[in-house]
Amino acid sequence: MKTLLLENTEENIARAAEILRNGGLVGIPTETVYGLAANALDGNAVAKIFKAKGRPADNPLIVHISDFSDIDRFNLVEQVPDTAKKLAEAFWPGPLTIIMKRTDAVPNEVSAGLDTVAIRFPSHKTAQAIISQAGVPLAAPSANLSGSPSPTTALHVMSDLNGKIDAVVDGGMSDVGLESTVITLAKSVPRVLRPGGVTIEQLREVLGEVELDSAVLHRLADGAKAASPGMKYKHYAPKASVVLLKCNDCEYIDYVNRNADEHTAALCCDEDIPLLNVVCYRLGKRNDYALQAHRLFDELRKIDGNQNIRTVYSRLPSLEGVGMAVYNRLVRAAGFEVIDLEKM
Ligand code: TXA
Ligand code: MG
Repeated sequence: MKTLLLENTEENIARAAEILRNGGLVGIPTETVYGLAANALDGNAVAKIFKAKGRPADNPLIVHISDFSDIDRFNLVEQVPDTAKKLAEAFWPGPLTIIMKRTDAVPNEVSAGLDTVAIRFPSHKTAQAIISQAGVPLAAPSANLSGSPSPTTALHVMSDLNGKIDAVVDGGMSDVGLESTVITLAKSVPRVLRPGGVTIEQLREVLGEVELDSAVLHRLADGAKAASPGMKYKHYAPKASVVLLKCNDCEYIDYVNRNADEHTAALCCDEDIPLLNVVCYRLGKRNDYALQAHRLFDELRKIDGNQNIRTVYSRLPSLEGVGMAVYNRLVRAAGFEVIDLEKM
């Protein structure tokens, strides 16, 4: 199949919406990462997403809407809890996904056999226009091949899925750069299953008590059931091995320079670059966690593009604010291997 790379014009938005209405697959820009969209109410269309991405069938998809009222209009959930209304009021449209008890209107292909559905109202204007013109909610995982970093540009989508999907709409580089925060309201206490652009501190301000699922920061124990199936898969793994160092700034510079050879690189903060004797991939300023989130996947893809690199050293990020989301993605990229220099 030929994949159309469409510019972000009115005409192309209408064309993308038509492809979706007819059961096709379109890569769409969102403020978090690009999504691979299909009509969420059409199980056959949704099944194509799993095939194109090579996604395990037990990993459910997020349903994207373009207005809060779509939840009722399409009868997606049994009852919208008050907590969901509060969250929507504070963070929608935006990088937050809310899990609630689903109805039978949600196809099994979307919920992967769970009795819940994940819903998000993205803030990207092009995403909103495509959803509302399609006239149906859109199921969309990140538009990458399973296991590779999520795409933050239309070219990333093309590099993974060219020939496998109908079209990609180019809406520029994703602003947040990491996937949405996922919170479930299907438990007695709201619980974050994946950190993202909306921070746990912000969620607690609105809801009071919010738990953090243990899979966010730690490797799942063998045989343990993941609250969010996506968390059990090794994600975002570049071809080179990522090694995370738990240490202060000086120890990081010193360790990397001592272990440097022609196959070594650093994924580091701007301040480190003049001091390091290896190829550097820059995340941004040390305390600018939003910028680090914005750049992370693009840098991981650049590292993938450099065949020469075998080891990439990075520092364990801070857990503060959006730092927690960067931490979550980086420990997965590193397969949870962390060298603790403070203990050595
Ligand atoms: O920002 C985002 O969320 C992007 C854009 C395209 O919206 N989408 C995205 O989708 O990251 P995906 O499929 O790559 O990640 C969705 C995550 C997976 O870890 C999945 O297991 C989890 O959400 N998930 C989806 N539905 C769920 C449910 N009903 N219960 C628990 N986890 C769910
Ligand atoms: Mg994904």
